[in-house]
Amino acid sequence: MKKIFFAFFGLLALAGCQPTPQENPQQGGETASVDQVIMARRSIRQYTSQQIDSATLTQILKCGINAPNGRALQAYEIRVVNNPELLKDITKAVLNDTPEMQLKPGADNIFFGAKTVVFLACDRGYDMSQVDCGLLGENIILSAWDKGIGSCCLAHPVRLMKESPSCAPFIEKLDFCKNYELLYCIALGYPNESPEAKPRREDMIKFL
Ligand SMILES: Cc1cc2nc3c(=O)[nH]c(=O)nc-3n(C[C@H](O)[C@H](O)[C@H](O)COP(=O)(O)O)c2cc1C
Repeated sequence: MKKIFFAFFGLLALAGCQPTPQENPQQGGETASVDQVIMARRSIRQYTSQQIDSATLTQILKCGINAPNGRALQAYEIRVVNNPELLKDITKAVLNDTPEMQLKPGADNIFFGAKTVVFLACDRGYDMSQVDCGLLGENIILSAWDKGIGSCCLAHPVRLMKESPSCAPFIEKLDFCKNYELLYCIALGYPNESPEAKPRREDMIKFL
C-alpha cells in the first residue's frame, strides 16, 4: 500500500515538472523543440506593420531575464520601445548627423522598420555583463521566434545613436542608470521575409 502511495505521488510530481508544450505558429500550430527553434531562426530585416501584443511581449521578456547571468547579479538594464513614433524620432536624429545613412526600402526607421525595439545596457563595473546581455538577448530572440516573431540583433544602429549628438536626448530618455552603457538592441516584429540560413563553419568545432 505504501509503495502504491509513493508511486502515485511520484508520478504526480513528475507530471508537474514537465514543461507545458507551447504552440508554435512558425510550424503551423505544432510544438517545436528548442533545437528546431534554434536551427530555424534567422535574422529578420523586413517586418509587417503588425504590433506585438503586450502579453506576448511580456512573456518574451520574461524568457529573456530567465537566461543564466554571472553571479546572479542580473547586471543589465532593459528598455522596451514599443512606440513606432519614438523609433521614427530616433531615426530622424541619427539621419540628421549621418545623412549618408540609407533606410531599407519600405522601412521608416533605422531598425529595419521594426515596430518594437529592445535596448540593452551593460554594467560597466562588471566584466561579464556583456555576456549576460548576450545570453539575455538570445533568450529573447528564441522565445520570439517560437511565437512567430522575427528579430535582428543590432549593433550598427546603436553605434550610430551613440555617435550622433542629435540622438543624445533619446539615449537620455532611455534612462539607464549611471554605471550602465547602451550595448546593442534587438528589433522585434512579424517577419515579412524568409531569409535562407547562412552557412556555418563546422571546422570551428574541435574535440579534444
Ligand atoms: C552582436 C551582433 C551584432 C549584429 N549587428 C547587426 C547589425 O548592425 N545589422 C544587421 O543587419 N545585422 C546584425 N547582426 C545580425 C547578424 O548579421 C546575423 O546574426 C548573421 O548574419 C547570421 O545570420 P542569422 O542570424 O540569420 O543566422 C548582428 C548580430 C550580432 C550577434
